[in-house]
Amino acid sequence: MNVGIIGAGRIGSNVGRLLAQAGHAVFYSFSRSEEKLRELATATGDPNRWGTPAEAVAFAEVVLLSPPYGELDRALAAAGPMTGKIVIDTVNPFGAGGPAYAQGGTAAQEIASKLPGAEIVKAYNHIYYVHIAERHHAKPRLVAFICGDSGPAKATVTQVVEDTGFLVWDLGALAAARWTEPHGPLFNQPMTEAEAMEAVAALPSLPD
Ligand SMILES: NC(=O)c1ccc[n+]([C@@H]2O[C@H](COP(=O)([O-])OP(=O)(O)OC[C@H]3O[C@@H](n4cnc5c(N)ncnc54)[C@H](OP(=O)(O)O)[C@@H]3O)[C@@H](O)[C@H]2O)c1
Repeated sequence: MNVGIIGAGRIGSNVGRLLAQAGHAVFYSFSRSEEKLRELATATGDPNRWGTPAEAVAFAEVVLLSPPYGELDRALAAAGPMTGKIVIDTVNPFGAGGPAYAQGGTAAQEIASKLPGAEIVKAYNHIYYVHIAERHHAKPRLVAFICGDSGPAKATVTQVVEDTGFLVWDLGALAAARWTEPHGPLFNQPMTEAEAMEAVAALPSLPD
């Protein structure tokens, strides 16, 4: 699958490496260093697969959206429309004053509202990047929670995330990002399937 990465930092570079190892084609964008993008592309098989966010979107069947929250609008402006794309949203809403969205909405829903016609699936955001880098393909596998409003998009993302060495657990609608974003009980809690069963059973219902 062709994966276009927007944000070549700790998440983008580590997920990109794992995707390439699993046989996916990755294209890197959104860094202040062209040299870094070129090096990442070279290390994952094609020195030419880097460029602008708009070029990453054009390349992609699946977009991995991974800028800092404070740079989200800049990244989206550089990317342009994503109509028809599946977008894996890794973004945690950390602002200058700490986590945003203490109540109510989520960054996932904000991103969905800014990308009409794209299918947003929240994934990877609750996993510390060191665990992505070092605990992928663990035995037993660590759980990767996903959520989104499109079943077909989640099926595609499930395959992509499992290819990077995690056990996917579908939490349901995109609003469930409330549980995996920084104020949520599933944020930054590495867990096996057995541990996830307990944690998910203890979740309150989502508000309407
Ligand atoms: N760190 C974690 O453990 C973790 C875990 C899960 C989810 N997340 C979330 O995933 C997202 C990415 O996190 P991260 O830790 O990978 O962040 P990061 O290491 O800071 O990487 C962000 C990327 O965005 C680029 N960038 C930032 N400002 C830019 C600008 N003005 N113009 C062009 N490129 C710019 C950076 O460029 P440079 O290459 O020049 O630095 C970098 O490639 C965030 O929303 C974060 O909340 C993080």
